Amino acid sequence: MTLTRDHCARLDAEDTLAYARARFSLPAGIIYLDGNSLGALPVGVGERVAHIVANEWGKGLIRSWNTAGWFDAPARIGAKLAPLLGAAPHQVIVTDTISINLYKVLVAAVRLRPGRTTIIAEQGNFPSDNHIIDSVARLFGLKVRYVAVEEISAAVDADTALIELSHVSYRTAAIQDMAAITAAAHAKGALTVWDLAHSTGAVALSLDVDRVDFAVGCGYKFLSGGPGAPAHVYVAERHHGEIDQPLTGWFGHREPFAFAHDFARADGIKAMLCSTPPMLSMLALEAALSVFDGVAMTAVQAKGRALGDLMIALYDERLAALGFGLAASRDGMRRGNHVSVTHPEAYRIMQALIARGVIGDFRAPDVMRFGFGPLYVRYTDVSDAVDIVDQIMRDGAWRSIPHPAADAVT
Ligand SMILES: Cc1ncc(COP(=O)(O)O)c(C=O)c1O
Repeated sequence: MTLTRDHCARLDAEDTLAYARARFSLPAGIIYLDGNSLGALPVGVGERVAHIVANEWGKGLIRSWNTAGWFDAPARIGAKLAPLLGAAPHQVIVTDTISINLYKVLVAAVRLRPGRTTIIAEQGNFPSDNHIIDSVARLFGLKVRYVAVEEISAAVDADTALIELSHVSYRTAAIQDMAAITAAAHAKGALTVWDLAHSTGAVALSLDVDRVDFAVGCGYKFLSGGPGAPAHVYVAERHHGEIDQPLTGWFGHREPFAFAHDFARADGIKAMLCSTPPMLSMLALEAALSVFDGVAMTAVQAKGRALGDLMIALYDERLAALGFGLAASRDGMRRGNHVSVTHPEAYRIMQALIARGVIGDFRAPDVMRFGFGPLYVRYTDVSDAVDIVDQIMRDGAWRSIPHPAADAVT
């Protein structure tokens, strides 16, 4: 392959998903490679939120909980999202955050496996996941075994209540075999809890076919639901009769407006609700999901993989010689939609890149992540971004960036 810009322009011209870029409102002069942290703004979401504020809130007032479909929004949006997860619609609901949903499903799963003493989790999990796993273990007097991801299946035994791991790693984008790991857990009577933060909207999923028990996913990354958009939670139908999640707030009650003293769990997936949903964020996410209309997730994953392959080929050709390392699988079938590159000065280099209009992110201590929202990133964006990395390394622009990291969010 010749990796010239013309070659990349030809790939853009042949891209069968190229039309989807017009569904986003992207600032001129910016190459946005951080959709894995905050997805770009879809066209029409701002107008929709303005309409909701002015009319549904401003004029409809409290009536809109009934007349504008607010009350049903978490389940309705969950059902709209379910096809992206390979899930039947009544098993997905939009609510709370990933971490809060994780707490709920972990406790629910532990309660489904009384007498079992161990949780198995991935050593390299996103820290929030492991902090919550530790807390749940303390609550129930369980042990946590942190193991390398490739050892997870072999580590499950008759004491294991559940295993928790990321489908796509937030650092390396390594993608796990959901069906095989879930089958290994089930063979020993254990349950699975999957973190889909870097999977939903990025790669094709088949939670039902893979017999997943529980999963949590993100609204603000590849779904482009907006900053702090509500997360989603999946519970397989076979567990619906017994979900006993710990945050028994009134929205998870069968009849919240009966104001009964005793808690009676709502039927089905609604049992995962706790509180009054953040309606503006909910409805922004609902509007954002239209960017997936008519789009096959297999095509999204294939383009993400091709963009990542291009980034890795350009890394080999140009970045390796400049002192960068690669922290990503070369096998596109085993990689989600970002490519991580390491450098001892990763923070300062990323800041210099952002100053020149290439937005990726930094993960301590030395990782620069480049995420490829397949619906709006072009092949030429990847080659232009690598050109700019090359320039920054040659002209030393990163040396004038102060360190340590000055910003709260990196
Ligand atoms: C893999 C993963 N899990 C969990 C979280 C935490 O998400 P939240 O802030 O919604 O709890 C993140 C956030 O980026 C993440 O990347």
